[in-house]
Amino acid sequence: MSTHFAAAQWAAIWRWTAPNPALNSLSMAILKIAKMGHPVLRKKAQALADPKSPGLTALIRDMVETMKDADGAGLAAPQVHVSARVVIFQAPPDRSQAPDDDLDDGEESYDHTAPLTVLVNPEIEFLSEDSELGMEGCLSVPGLRGLVPRCPHIRYSGFDQNGERFEREARGFHARVVQHEVDHLDGILYPQRMEDLGALMFESEMKHYIQADDFEAEENEEAAE
Ligand code: NI
Repeated sequence: MSTHFAAAQWAAIWRWTAPNPALNSLSMAILKIAKMGHPVLRKKAQALADPKSPGLTALIRDMVETMKDADGAGLAAPQVHVSARVVIFQAPPDRSQAPDDDLDDGEESYDHTAPLTVLVNPEIEFLSEDSELGMEGCLSVPGLRGLVPRCPHIRYSGFDQNGERFEREARGFHARVVQHEVDHLDGILYPQRMEDLGALMFESEMKHYIQADDFEAEENEEAAE
């Protein structure tokens, strides 16, 4: 999932990932990303016994740096060869289209966006029995995109970068990115969630998919006239 961070967001991140001045003098590392086929991506990751562990700060800093370098919207620790239940993600406005156009009468509008979030030892509760198809990509499955069914409305909880417990409700892209990242902790990559591998494609061919989508929409409009 590709995206860009705003400078203000990064400034905020540096503040909380560097509470120890000694750490500021150390250079951050861009970590190697495991790709599909590496056994660490198939393993169930271990819960952290102490979400306030000092080692976590360094791991999170490196994960943020790695995600920024790879232009990703999320990263799970197993993707950097650390089999621990730690994920980072964000749902920026450009990936989280306002759903107002799709709303039925009387339906409430909601916010799809999420700031850069650290989630340690996550738990997900599914708040809907529906499933929604959406396009996903993964830094461990480079160059590909696929249509994946996900629950459109969840509640998630876990610990943040300060070891504080929190919970949030999420919908749309926000709910999707959380489910994608938490799947990594259970050894699951998005193609394993796909119902139709015919909807797995190279990024370089996405333009054909989008054109086909427009074409179908136009055909449907004509049919409705
Ligand atoms: Ni992924």
